[in-house]
Amino acid sequence: MNFRESGMPDEKTWDNFLDTVRILSLMEINGGVNTLIDIGCGYGTFLFPASKVVKKAVGIDIDNKMFKYCRDRIKQNGYKNIEIVKGDISQKKTLKVLKLYSDHVDSVVLFNIFHCEEPQKLLNIVYSILKPDGKAGVIHWKYDNTPRGPSMKIRPKPEKVIKWVESVGFFVRNQFELAPYHYGIVFEKEENNMKYGIILETKEYEKAWIAFRFAVASKKSEHEVKVFLMGEAVECEGLTHETYNIDEQLNLFVSEGGEILACGTCLKLRNMSGTEACPISTMVDCVKMVEWAEKTVTF
Ligand SMILES: C[S@@+](CC[C@H](N)C(=O)[O-])C[C@H]1O[C@@H](n2cnc3c(N)ncnc32)[C@H](O)[C@@H]1O
Repeated sequence: MNFRESGMPDEKTWDNFLDTVRILSLMEINGGVNTLIDIGCGYGTFLFPASKVVKKAVGIDIDNKMFKYCRDRIKQNGYKNIEIVKGDISQKKTLKVLKLYSDHVDSVVLFNIFHCEEPQKLLNIVYSILKPDGKAGVIHWKYDNTPRGPSMKIRPKPEKVIKWVESVGFFVRNQFELAPYHYGIVFEKEENNMKYGIILETKEYEKAWIAFRFAVASKKSEHEVKVFLMGEAVECEGLTHETYNIDEQLNLFVSEGGEILACGTCLKLRNMSGTEACPISTMVDCVKMVEWAEKTVTF
């Protein structure tokens, strides 16, 4: 859905309202940024200048005219580090495309679109796109007499934006006056991921199943997780039960990016070898995992 009142004047008129280079610098868009996503990029007013400083810049716009305009400009100039996506940011299929960048997105900008219908929903999307400690920025028209901008009844004041931003789990880093017509707010995704080491020593159905469910839930909460299989637990791969499907949880954990290590001696004692999901490891690897982990849990 096209956000309300998000139409644009001609490019030259639009450019006159914004000191893009200064705004980008204040909004912490600099050489330290790996991948920037510009949601509702319009003419690419910020996307193109940002691409000169960041490693990769990705613009998204729902409007075909804006999409084509940016796409043609990228082609004509042979820009290698800019990509343009046509799509609605609130649609799952657009988010699927953005998932391709998910490990690297450390900056998202929401410039002149925050008068949208559901700003908190948009912020939740931004939160899901950004990697931990990534930053996002909103710039918007002041709640004042300005030569353009959305109607006053939907124009958010900075205090309101800050409330929304904090309610979603960001913390505010900075707030600026961007004279003459705008204000800007930079906020950061709090890094709350932990490193968990899990030592599993049993192949007992319910216990081993619970251990892997814990591992999967931890991964889904964006923690880093490693599982070390010891003793009879090295037999867990392939173990199924009508209620406690260990193998299913083990594979789910691996598909979520979790790492499993299996004690080589325990495998040898059982005439088993390592597998792709559970490669052979040593007791030294187990010690290293415990050193790496901030918390170690045993089952
Ligand atoms: C007012 S313009 C701002 C353009 C640009 N951010 C800037 O500040 O120069 C808003 C842009 O958001 C785009 N837009 C509106 N709804 C959108 C949506 N749901 N998903 C992606 N883009 C959207 C519009 O097509 C338009 O280009």
